[in-house]
Amino acid sequence: MFQPKVTRTKHWHFAIDVEQLGWLTINTQGAPVNTLSREAITELEALVAQIEELANAKQLVGVILLSGKDSGFIAGADVSEFDAMSDFSVLPEALKRTHALFQRIENLKIPVVAGIHGFCLGGGLELALACHYRIAVNDDKTRIGFPEVGLGIFPGFGGTGRSIRQAGPIDAMGIMLTGRMLKAGAARGMGLVDKLVRHRDMLGWEARKAVLQKRKSGVAGFTKRIMGMGPLRGYAAGKMREQVAKKARKEHYPAPYALIDLFEKHGNDWQAMSRREIEPFVPLMGTDTAANLRRVFFLSESLKKQGLKGAKFARVHVIGAGVMGGDIAAWCALRGMSVTLQDLDMERIKPALDRGKALFKKRLRKKYEVDAAVMRLEADPTGKGVSRADVIIEAVVEKLEVKQAIFGGLEDKLKPGAILATNTSSIELERIAEKLKDPARLIGLHFFNPVAQLPLVEVIRSTFNTDAEIGKGAAFALAIGKSPVVVKSAPGFLVNRVLMPYMLAAVERVQRGESKELLDAAAVAFGMPMGPIELMDTVGLDVGKSVARELGHAVGDNTQFADLVAANKLGRKSGEGFYKWVDGKAVKGPVPEGRDMAALGRELVKPLIDMTEIVVAEGVVANADLADIGVIMGTGFAPFLGGPMRARRDGKA
Ligand code: NAI
Repeated sequence: MFQPKVTRTKHWHFAIDVEQLGWLTINTQGAPVNTLSREAITELEALVAQIEELANAKQLVGVILLSGKDSGFIAGADVSEFDAMSDFSVLPEALKRTHALFQRIENLKIPVVAGIHGFCLGGGLELALACHYRIAVNDDKTRIGFPEVGLGIFPGFGGTGRSIRQAGPIDAMGIMLTGRMLKAGAARGMGLVDKLVRHRDMLGWEARKAVLQKRKSGVAGFTKRIMGMGPLRGYAAGKMREQVAKKARKEHYPAPYALIDLFEKHGNDWQAMSRREIEPFVPLMGTDTAANLRRVFFLSESLKKQGLKGAKFARVHVIGAGVMGGDIAAWCALRGMSVTLQDLDMERIKPALDRGKALFKKRLRKKYEVDAAVMRLEADPTGKGVSRADVIIEAVVEKLEVKQAIFGGLEDKLKPGAILATNTSSIELERIAEKLKDPARLIGLHFFNPVAQLPLVEVIRSTFNTDAEIGKGAAFALAIGKSPVVVKSAPGFLVNRVLMPYMLAAVERVQRGESKELLDAAAVAFGMPMGPIELMDTVGLDVGKSVARELGHAVGDNTQFADLVAANKLGRKSGEGFYKWVDGKAVKGPVPEGRDMAALGRELVKPLIDMTEIVVAEGVVANADLADIGVIMGTGFAPFLGGPMRARRDGKA
C-alpha cells in the first residue's frame, strides 16, 4: 500500500501523495490564526529546500499550499515579534532572508498553487503572491488585503512589487495605501486571485487540477500597467499623494508617503520595486508612529478577549425608536439578531424601520440578505418581545422618571438571565436601578452616534453590578461587532467626560474672539480627526449644552453658545451652529496665518488629556491602557500618538 511521505514541523505539514503532489499546510501551533513568525519562516526555508531537491529529482509534480485552520489562510507576519524586529541590526537581514525564500518559491520549476479561505492578509498575501496561481473561496469570510499601513509600515516581503505585477499599479497601490480588505470576487477582479470556488472543500480538488494543468497566473494587462510607465507614473504618484493627504499627514503617518516615493522611483519594474522596498521599510518599522499603532492594535485585540464565555444572544428588544434606539435596533438586526423595536406608537417606529432598511441595503450585497435583515427587525408597539428577549436595551428620552417607570414595568416579564440595559448618556445608573427589585440586573450599554460608524460601546457598571452582568454586557457588544470598554457609572462616563472640557475650552476661546477656523485647523494638525468647534456643531449644540450642564460646566447665559441655542442654531443638524453647514459640510473661512500650529494644537487638547488622567486616577476605567483605547475609539484621538495617556507620558502632548 502507498504510504505518503510526510514531514511535520511545529507549524507546517508537508505530505506527498500518490500522484506526486506535495500538500503543504500551515497550522501555527498554539494560536487561533496562522501567522508567519520567524520560526514559521525558518521552518519553511527547510521545507522549500526539500521541495527544490524533490523537484530537481522529478519526484514532485507540484505543490499546493493550504491552511489547516478554520479561521483562514494566513493573517500576516507575527505582529508580536515586531518590537524586537524593529532593531536595525536584525530587521534588514530578516527581510532579505524572507525575500530570498519567497523568490525561491517563485523560481521553482514545478507549479505552486495557493488555496485561500478566510483571512489572507499582509505577509500571508505576499506568500500567496509568490505562488504561481491562486484559488480563493468565494464566500463572505474570505478577506484579502494589505493592512500594513494601519501598523505604520507597508508590505515588506516583496508584496509591493508582486501586487503591482498582478493587479497593476492603481489597484495595487490603492489597497496598500488604504489597507482595504477585499472580498474574493473583488480580488479576482483585480487579478490578485485567479480562480474562485464555492466551498473550502473544493480548494484541494481545484488546486490539484491547477497543478496538473500547470496553470500560471498572468500579469496585469497593458492598460493597467500603463499608469506605472514613464511620466504617467509621476502623475499617478501625485494624485496618490493628494488622496493620502486628505486622510493622513506625512509627519503623523509617514508610511503611505514612503510607499508612494518607492512607487514613483520603481513602479515600472516590479522586481526592482520589491527588491528596493526593504530600504524605506526598515526606518518605518522603528518610528514612534509604528510602535504606537502596534500598541493600539494590541489594545483593540485585547478588548475582544473580554466578555463572559459561552454567552449566547439571539433576540434583542429595544425600547425607544428615536435616533439611538432605532439605530441600535437596526445594527443588531444587521448583525444577525432578531430584534423587536418598541415605541409609543407605530408612527414613531416607522422612520427607524426605514433607516434600518437603508442601512441593510448599504451593508449587505444580496437582495435575499437585505430581505432577511428586514424580517429580523420587527415593530413592536406593545412590547410583546420583552419576555422572549436575551437583551433589552432602553433608549427613550433622557428623563429619570420615564426610564424608572419603564424598568419598573419590565422586571417581572424578563427571561431569566436576560441582559437589562440602558443607553443613558448622563443619568447615574444607580438612580435608574433604584426602583428595581434586583438593581444588580441593570447595566449601561452606551452606544455612540452614529451607531453604524462608531465601534465603541461603553459598558457601564453600577455599584450594584457583579462581574457576571458586566461580562455578559461585554460579550453582547462583541457579538454585535462592537468594542466594549468597561466604565464605572460616573457623570459623562469616559468619552463625554474627556471630550466636554476640550470642546468647551475651545468654545470659550471663540467667545473671546479667536478664529474657529484656526482652532479647528490646529487640532487637526495635532492629529484629531476633526477640530473641537466643528465637533461641537456635529454633536449638536443642544446636546452639548445639556451634557455640559450634567458635567458641571453650565454654559453661561450671555454667551455666543447660549445665543446660538436660543436661536435654534444647533449645528450640523439645523444647517447652522458655529459654522454654516451645506451638504453636510461646514463652510469655513480662511485660517489666519502666522501661528505655531503645533503649540496651539497641544494647548487645545490639554484639557482632554488632563481629564483622561483624572478619570484614570478616579478608577472610572480600570487602567491607562483602557483609557487610551477607549478615547481613541470614542473620539478618534490621534492613534499615531497611542492615546492621550501615552502621548503625555512621551511628552508629545
Ligand atoms: P430621541 O428623542 O431621538 O428618541 C427617544 C424615543 O423614545 C422617542 O422616539 C420617544 O417616542 C421614545 N419614548 C419616549 N417615552 C417612551 C416610552 N415610555 N416608551 C417607549 N418609547 C418612548 O432620543 P435619542 O437621542 O435617541 O436618545 C435616547 C437615549 O439615548 C437617551 O437616554 C440619550 O441620552 C441616549 N444617547 C443619545 C445619544 C445621541 O447622540 N443622541 C448618544 C448616546 C446615548
